[in-house]
Amino acid sequence: MPQSALNAHIRQLREHRSRIEKIPLKDLFDVDPQRVQRFSVEDGLLIFDFSKNRIDQPSLNTLLDLATEAKLQDARCRMFAGEKINFTEKRAVLHTALRAGEGAELTVDGENVRDLVASTRERTSAFAEKVRSGEYQLAGRQICDVVNIGIGGSDLGPVMCVAALKPYCSGPDIHFVSNVDGADFHDTVADLDPHTTLFIIASKSFTTAETMANAKLAKDWLASKISPPELGKHFVALSTNLPATAEFGIDEERTFGFWDWVGGRYSIWSSIGLSLMIAIGPENYRKFLDGAKSADSHFLNRAFENNIPVLMALIGIWHRNVWEYPAHAILPYDNRLSRFPAYLQQLDMESNGKHICVDGTTTKYSTSPVIWGEPGTNGQHAFYQLLHQGSDIVPCDFLIAALSHEKDQTHQRMLAANCFAQSEAMMLGRSKQQVISQMQVAGVNVTVDRDLVPHKVFEGNRPSSTIMYRKLDPFVLGQLIAFYEHKVFVQGVIWGINSFDQWGVELGKQLAVEIQPLLEDGAFDPGTSDHDASTSFLISKFFALSK
Ligand code: F6P
Repeated sequence: MPQSALNAHIRQLREHRSRIEKIPLKDLFDVDPQRVQRFSVEDGLLIFDFSKNRIDQPSLNTLLDLATEAKLQDARCRMFAGEKINFTEKRAVLHTALRAGEGAELTVDGENVRDLVASTRERTSAFAEKVRSGEYQLAGRQICDVVNIGIGGSDLGPVMCVAALKPYCSGPDIHFVSNVDGADFHDTVADLDPHTTLFIIASKSFTTAETMANAKLAKDWLASKISPPELGKHFVALSTNLPATAEFGIDEERTFGFWDWVGGRYSIWSSIGLSLMIAIGPENYRKFLDGAKSADSHFLNRAFENNIPVLMALIGIWHRNVWEYPAHAILPYDNRLSRFPAYLQQLDMESNGKHICVDGTTTKYSTSPVIWGEPGTNGQHAFYQLLHQGSDIVPCDFLIAALSHEKDQTHQRMLAANCFAQSEAMMLGRSKQQVISQMQVAGVNVTVDRDLVPHKVFEGNRPSSTIMYRKLDPFVLGQLIAFYEHKVFVQGVIWGINSFDQWGVELGKQLAVEIQPLLEDGAFDPGTSDHDASTSFLISKFFALSK
């Protein structure tokens, strides 16, 4: 939205903040017995509780007005209709079409999107089934291991989802190689048998340096044991760049395409999801898509005040632009969501980590916060100290299932107790008076140990939201991801930025290409180097240390 319009709303919201910051969060509950009901939304078996944020109805109303003023309804329609809203790359943004099923007819650049998606999905499903059933054979042997080689969106979605849906996985073991650090490849294949290993080369562009280097390493690793043409059968390509996949030598039959209107960080719904599909089977993958589809319909049809991604986005704006919190923690109390924070880092920070508006001017307001996190309860024993008593306030998203996949739910109850306790502690804190009473009850001489008191006080009023779902199944995972995708979209609309390009990653890539040849023995002359003194120093020392 235009910065001037945003400006007016932020000013109004800051007035709300001045009023609210005098009220402890606990009092907001005391004065409004219906607060939880009014500040939580349910969708099927998923609940979003945002009542533990320092927000009240008047401030929420202003945020909802902001969404209307930002013409969110129009923006949402334009995205779903396939308009080229990623204008810097002249591309439509249609990851939603990948989960629409028998959705409405949609044409992009003269191509019927629904038919394209359906025919490709049929091919990937058939291939995944063949690999799972053992019908696809390598010199008469079934595939035991599948290695997905990709990076960024061509890795994070599959790796996060395969871990998240472990109880639904069967068939070959799935592995992931993303880092160009040779250790990643070598550690991954150390115990694998080349004869029964299939490599999936996942790259939208099929030019990403890390992926191409690892794909070549895979070829070399196989070549010591397997000769062409059999070697070719060990490779599958997932890409939009079909000439490049052919040049790499991957047969058309094992090449699964997608389209430029699928952003890398939104590509788990496309052929890039093949490793996930092999892991959980096409039927479960369909349920995963259905979860996302239901979140799309929620996002499209619910009024803003009942709309989970819209509310997530508005609370994020409230924290970032009104309270000026620089970070946001993702705390899954779900061990299988261990890569979810990393997944959301790309989704949020690559989409909205920008300061140039769609009209080319500079934003007046901060955009994406730093997204980080770790699964609970591990994080509790590492960085929660800062969340409770640090000098910065970090709003948190807690995620928790009501049921685990394990037979005995004892651990799940313990996990949930920790999750609820942490958000409660962040909100309520512990006053000086409470500290003193607790010390007295414990038989501590408060006069002697009075210096301890301030260290034990928690000021509280630290904001958090909780997303609770019945069980982390394919449907719920699809729903969760899509809600976060739409949250990021809404924030991009309000900040007036293009959430779908990523020019900021280009410069480093270009410089790496220039620097790499200089790292060959004898190739670097500091006297004639165009690089800055620090970089030249590091290149020289790299030689010295590698001798
Ligand atoms: O580095 C940025 C990026 O372009 C991401 O947006 C993308 O997900 C990743 O690189 C990988 O790109 P590709 O799938 O083309 O290999």
